[in-house]
Amino acid sequence: MATNKSIQIPDELLPNDGRFGSGPSLVRGEAVNSLSTVSKNYLGTSHRQSAVKEMVLRLQEGIASLFELPNDWEILLGNGGATLFWDAATFGLIRAKSQHLVFGEFSSKFSQASMNAPHLSTPEIISSEYGSAPSPTPSDVDLYALTQNETSTGVSIPLKRPEGSSTDDAIVAVDATSAAGGMLWDPEEVDCYYFSPQKSFASDGGLWIAACSPAAIDRINEISNSGRWVPAALDLKIALDNSRKNQTYNTPALSTIFLTVHQIEWMNGQGGLKWASSRSDESSTHLYDWAESHQYAKPFVNDTDLRSPVVVTIDLDEGVSADTLVSICRENGILDIGGYRKIGRNQIRVATFPAIEPDDIRALTRSIDYLLESLL
Ligand SMILES: Cc1ncc(COP(=O)(O)O)c(C=O)c1O
Repeated sequence: MATNKSIQIPDELLPNDGRFGSGPSLVRGEAVNSLSTVSKNYLGTSHRQSAVKEMVLRLQEGIASLFELPNDWEILLGNGGATLFWDAATFGLIRAKSQHLVFGEFSSKFSQASMNAPHLSTPEIISSEYGSAPSPTPSDVDLYALTQNETSTGVSIPLKRPEGSSTDDAIVAVDATSAAGGMLWDPEEVDCYYFSPQKSFASDGGLWIAACSPAAIDRINEISNSGRWVPAALDLKIALDNSRKNQTYNTPALSTIFLTVHQIEWMNGQGGLKWASSRSDESSTHLYDWAESHQYAKPFVNDTDLRSPVVVTIDLDEGVSADTLVSICRENGILDIGGYRKIGRNQIRVATFPAIEPDDIRALTRSIDYLLESLL
């Protein structure tokens, strides 16, 4: 296989938009244009005044409507992304002991945060090989930590409340960072559905958003009343009080909030979560079918039920260097399709979030076919 030859993919094969990264991911041009038109009344204005607070309210109401949440759920938000939320959860959602399903880099990070928290008991960690997923086991824990889509491996799991838990009020917290907005879920099975908005919400990073059931809110209040010391920036009770006033505890990125709202309203306007998830289904099905029938490619996730509809991982034949393919793609404006670095496989990883056009996904496979023919 030639490794150092740059290849020009013909224009007619190339996607219109070459952003296929799993996060930061494609931000729609319409949203960016719209941000520039509102900017005088919004960007660079106080986050404690109505223009920004109304935008936060639109985000909260838009999320509730997209997920068809019961009226007693609340939308909390704060700075720091899902990574910060893990630390906040160790302080403000886990009473004493959690159980974590670990099947990739991100689920592992939350389990480590919980493991290292000196005020918590040692968590239960149930892991599985990359490319597969473990199942929760009913236990005496007070929080089950699930990840709807492991962005590092492209494995997604059904969200089900574990039955037979010996703790009456155990809650289910779901890291939905790459899944939220691109996958269906049932609020009956979950208490806290949290995510960062730079994936299916086609926004920028820096924010965490958490849809919380009354049981999750009770847990936040209970821990806050217990007198546990909590750093203010990680305090979910402070986040709750501020979210009820349509604001964050400290200054947020106003553009991130705006772009998130734009994407939520776009998805709601097109038909809601069913519509958005069907776009991701269409794109991911195309990629899996392509890889299944390809001489040099194969879906990384064997179990078809676990294959993610929003982040598709594809192993390449050893005669094809993924690094070379990825870098020639980059030269041609096809960006960020490399596998997650710590997975360490000869792999490509393609986001199929709702903002990414299914036609561009088809153009991507045409472009890769062209490259493979030229390289091999
Ligand atoms: C499943 C999952 N959880 C958490 C994170 C961390 O998000 P952030 O970098 O916004 O903190 C990511 C980022 O890719 C992710 O994919």
